[in-house]
Amino acid sequence: MPETTVWRVDGSRPDNVVLSKAGALIARGRLVAFPTETVYGIGVNALDEAAVRALFAAKGRPADNPLILHLAAPEDVTAYVGEVTALAAGLMEAFWPGPLTLVFRGAGRLPRMVTGGLETIAVRVPAHPVALGIIRAAGVPVVAPSANASGRPSPTTAAHVMADMAGKIDAVVDGGPTFVGIESTILDVSGDVPKILRHGAVSVGEIAAVCGMSLQEEFLRKEQKPTSLSRARLILVEGTPGSVTDAIVRLHASFTADGNDVAVLAREERVGLYPGVVAACGSSTDSRSVAAALYAALRQLENADVILVEGVAGEMGAAVRQRLHEFASQVVRAEGGS
Ligand code: TXA
Ligand code: MG
Repeated sequence: MPETTVWRVDGSRPDNVVLSKAGALIARGRLVAFPTETVYGIGVNALDEAAVRALFAAKGRPADNPLILHLAAPEDVTAYVGEVTALAAGLMEAFWPGPLTLVFRGAGRLPRMVTGGLETIAVRVPAHPVALGIIRAAGVPVVAPSANASGRPSPTTAAHVMADMAGKIDAVVDGGPTFVGIESTILDVSGDVPKILRHGAVSVGEIAAVCGMSLQEEFLRKEQKPTSLSRARLILVEGTPGSVTDAIVRLHASFTADGNDVAVLAREERVGLYPGVVAACGSSTDSRSVAAALYAALRQLENADVILVEGVAGEMGAAVRQRLHEFASQVVRAEGGS
């Protein structure tokens, strides 16, 4: 097992020497984690089958779960996809570099393992100087899944990466916390009507406005390996703010009475409404701040027996909600209240 080297860089003006070293390692078939604007990813040379196999093993990822190709420049996409339709070109123009992954018909240039045997290929151009610099320096097509052990919350800091992957990957480039905090939106543009496969930082409304048509939604099967926290049972409580508070206070009392160690995940303005251990996760008036703080907060609380989580509305509501539903062992619909 390799010892994992950590290189620290300034996320906005990264040292070129580190980027070159990281890119060269990837080109040589090594596994190197780096920040993107969404979450940390593990970059691997897509042309090197042994490296891709090592990546699946390091993450404990099911072999049929395909990877996203990460490019440094939008125009590089033509080498790997069957066709860039006018619709796809418009979306690339509007959102790349940025947190939108597009699924194209593939050109069959990458090993089957990368696409899990699918005819399509997922591609994105990340908006992060560290990611872009490393991909450029690698000089090979780079695939990059989120840098967590399969089924765990995606990492938004280098410390999260080390918690899951130390000793299993070769290096981590620490460029500070990621900005968006949740994974990219995935949109399938391989057919006539664009289909949302995963909610993310780019909202359905923003995409529909560029496409000039409404989107289908077809969510990815829950990953074959269910998501989980190390210990805690997550209970998501949805409803109006007042009814959510009442329900969480009630649930807190009854779980505590049964001898459970209970924690609450609340918007920062509402932390004072709850007893015991309460973690703040973004502001009620800014759902982007909730997304940014979400995974770190889940990792912080995951050793409790029960985490009671306030539901999330707003622009990023769909994206945050999709992830909370994946981690939740129960969703409570709070009724009444204010
Ligand atoms: O924000 C992100 O997208 C991060 C950062 C690191 O770029 N990456 C990421 O990769 O989330 P990963 O591997 O953790 O999730 C990729 C998702 C998987 O759910 C996979 O099933 C889906 O993308 N995917 C990949 N290729 C696909 C394809 N051809 N068709 C449909 N879904 C695909
Ligand atoms: Mg992932």
